[in-house]
Amino acid sequence: MKGMRCFLVAFTLLAFANSLASAFDPSPLQDFCVAINDTKNGVFVNGKFCKDPKLAVADDFFYSGLNMPGNTSNPVGSNVTTVNVDQIPGLNTLGISLVRIDYAPYGGLNPPHTHPRGTEILVVVEGTLYVGFVTSNPENRLFTKVLYPGDVFVFPIGLIHFQFNIGKTEAVAFAGLSSQNAGVITIANAVFGSDPPINPDVLTKAFQLDKNMVAYLQSRFWSD
Ligand SMILES: *[C@@H]1O[C@H](CO)[C@@H](O)[C@H](O)[C@H]1NC(C)=O
Ligand SMILES: *[C@@H]1O[C@H](CO)[C@@H](O)[C@H](O)[C@H]1NC(C)=O
Ligand SMILES: *[C@@H]1O[C@H](CO)[C@@H](O)[C@H](O)[C@H]1NC(C)=O
Repeated sequence: MKGMRCFLVAFTLLAFANSLASAFDPSPLQDFCVAINDTKNGVFVNGKFCKDPKLAVADDFFYSGLNMPGNTSNPVGSNVTTVNVDQIPGLNTLGISLVRIDYAPYGGLNPPHTHPRGTEILVVVEGTLYVGFVTSNPENRLFTKVLYPGDVFVFPIGLIHFQFNIGKTEAVAFAGLSSQNAGVITIANAVFGSDPPINPDVLTKAFQLDKNMVAYLQSRFWSD
């Protein structure tokens, strides 16, 4: 009888704890993974095979060069230097990576984009950035902030975000991402610069634009 009561109390507590626990979708290591039932035709897009741990060396966990600014002479005036599992093989399966972002003076922009596989935490070390992200439908609420050196801001996983240099000097930021390869979808590139192009009728209606404007946007050079 006592045992039964104990069980019931434990069960109730467990159920209560479960209702408080937050659930989370699986975190894929690649854009998609079409299941196959034989490994012969399998490919590793992002996840990698593991080196024998006995053969691992310090350089497997090392990268050098983030002191070097990226070249911002491009249409958007920004440059992202990525340090993920492709640069540091030791990051494989560890769920973390790093970027350096340089912004040209007077309007260097890291244009609206999302990281499908990672939350980003960014710290400004130089310059002044106007940053923001937008929440999902239907609210599409915009969160923005002006950041100065030492300021930190978070861009939650999957949400569209941007950073814009509103200062007269170059700006520099570093950011950690909660994935060994967070992926990037730059909105303008994906929508207007896809290969092959999206049928203009789709974009004309979706963006409520004149067809000539869509043709113009699709003809632009979309830099990464
Ligand atoms: C593997 O998949 C094929 C095609 O989907 C199917 O015909 C076959 O029975 C499967 N084999 C096994 C061992 O599940
Ligand atoms: C970013 O900077 C690097 C190093 O200067 C350069 O090789 C690369 O082409 C630049 N990327 C873009 C998109 O401008
Ligand atoms: C930056 O890129 C531009 C355009 O590609 C190029 O003309 C310039 O020489 C580069 N600057 C440096 C420092 O590499």
